[in-house]
Amino acid sequence: MRIGNIDIHQPLCLAPMEDVSDHPFRRICKEQGADLLYTEFASCEALIRNVRKMREKIELNENEHPIAIQLYGSAEASMERAAAIAQEAGADFIDVNCGCWVKKIANRGDGAGLLRDLDKFASVVRAVMRGTTLPVTVKTRLGWDADSIVILDVARMLEDLGVHALTVHCRTRVQGYTGHADWSWIPKIKAVSAIPLIANGDIKSPQDVRDCFDLGCDGVMIGRGAIHSPWIFRHARHYLDTGKLLPEPDLAERMAMCIRHLSDQAAYRGERRGVLSFRRHYAGYLKSARNIAHLRRDLMQFEAVAPIVERLHRYLETEEAENAAETCGTDMASP
Ligand SMILES: Cc1cc2nc3c(=O)[nH]c(=O)nc-3n(C[C@H](O)[C@H](O)[C@H](O)COP(=O)(O)O)c2cc1C
Repeated sequence: MRIGNIDIHQPLCLAPMEDVSDHPFRRICKEQGADLLYTEFASCEALIRNVRKMREKIELNENEHPIAIQLYGSAEASMERAAAIAQEAGADFIDVNCGCWVKKIANRGDGAGLLRDLDKFASVVRAVMRGTTLPVTVKTRLGWDADSIVILDVARMLEDLGVHALTVHCRTRVQGYTGHADWSWIPKIKAVSAIPLIANGDIKSPQDVRDCFDLGCDGVMIGRGAIHSPWIFRHARHYLDTGKLLPEPDLAERMAMCIRHLSDQAAYRGERRGVLSFRRHYAGYLKSARNIAHLRRDLMQFEAVAPIVERLHRYLETEEAENAAETCGTDMASP
């Protein structure tokens, strides 16, 4: 699949996720095989007002390329100026968010709100294209609701505009995250438009990745599945290449990844903020660990890195000791 100079066969993309797809998480996912990264979305209005927090969201590290900066907004002049700012920040391409379902964004016509007015949608995308010489891509949903699914018109429209790729979260805006992403739209979109298509929504396993490619998409984008298992990219690539599933990383490996991610996040956001915002990641790193409830309860109470690391090490030592005792017991019981 090609986006400007970027040419990757069946790219596995890390989804833009507010407060999740930051430097530390992007680094982990890149190491685990994500081919294309996206920043969390940045408000065009805040960018052009030079709001520090928003400018920080679009700062990129040199080892993150290829990476897109994602913008949202619906005022053409602001989107045009924000596109120039994103180019200046070093993005490889610019992604326009036309899919955010959150009320305060969608109801004022930004994000998925653009799905209710395709002329406006087109004029916002055109404005971004005027503001940059970089490739422009779009991420959206199927439509506003089940009675107004417009994705086929959107795909044709964006192809005519010269948009380089389209990511579709295969739900409507009204669905939010309910129900299932409907991947049956993938071949329908491919049938009406030659625009490179990145499928998104509920892709949680290497087999899901394979299924989406079998339906005809050109790339896949993974969000919550990557929070749950950052190694999904490596495992999916292995599965695509060999047809074989890798075993889940063992507890020691996941703990090591967890501790490094946590430390990076604390360094990036400041210790307390980093630790608090890290809480959503424990479930993934610790999944299928034994006696987890007690451990998670403890971890949720800490606001500094050192006691968390100490607690994780203690847990690992206990687990390893118990496993060793069990193995030993099994050996002794065998003839
Ligand atoms: C915590 C969180 C934050 C998100 N922030 C963004 C965002 O900034 N921009 C965007 O386009 N989508 C955002 N999304 C939506 C995801 O990119 C993705 O489209 C959605 O989660 C469906 O994919 P999944 O089933 O793989 O998670 C966010 C999702 C989550 C869970």
